[in-house]
Amino acid sequence: MGKLIVIDHPLIQHKLTLIRDKNTGSKDFREIVKEMSMLIGYEITRDLPLQEVEVETPLCVTKSKSLSGKKLGIIPILRAGLGMVDGVLQLIPAAKVGHVGLYRDPVTLEPVEYYCKLPTDVEERDLIVLDPMLATGGSAMAAIKFLKDKGASNIKLACIIASPEGIKVVQDHHEDVDIYVASVDEKLDENAYIVPGLGDAGDRLFGTK
Ligand code: PRP
Ligand code: URA
Repeated sequence: MGKLIVIDHPLIQHKLTLIRDKNTGSKDFREIVKEMSMLIGYEITRDLPLQEVEVETPLCVTKSKSLSGKKLGIIPILRAGLGMVDGVLQLIPAAKVGHVGLYRDPVTLEPVEYYCKLPTDVEERDLIVLDPMLATGGSAMAAIKFLKDKGASNIKLACIIASPEGIKVVQDHHEDVDIYVASVDEKLDENAYIVPGLGDAGDRLFGTK
């Protein structure tokens, strides 16, 4: 089964409280999501492989470490995943960004695909899928399947809030995908919104309703 990593760092938990607050406006919401994404990205990249290299300091030549291993790709699920891109890119500026456009049909709750554009070498990259909310899991499942169908094999999923239901469905179907979250909330409501959650992440990021 894929690992579930709940990042309980005090800064992340503090910022989570701020974005849960219904009185936090879009400007602050966007800024805090970006900051949280950088912190989540820090945890996700903790296991990146290193190689020993030589470097010449002003004093002498020494051995030091540099990143080795596969190049990275970050894949935001549109729209709300866009809010997480800049924070992660700040840590790994050389990553390529692919977009998977999905929205959840409000009646069927099924994800509907409307746009996809991936790096041409996506199958050679380690991928981080970004979406602040993992609710029923339908959107994440569709994105992961889409990426695997394109040949991707090393995928991590980064969310801010997840429901127990969403985590289970991804873990049941994709045992190779680790999930990183700031919080596992209580449940889904009758409209498949996460409770207590933060409401509609896309609307709060972009000021739409
Ligand atoms: C939200 C959210 C996820 C999805 C989660 O997107 O950003 O992508 O719902 O729900 P699920 O786990 O039940 O699929 P939404 O469909 O509202 O689109 P948006 O990002 O364009 O607002
Ligand atoms: N999508 C959101 O933006 N919020 C939820 O609570 C569930 C799905």
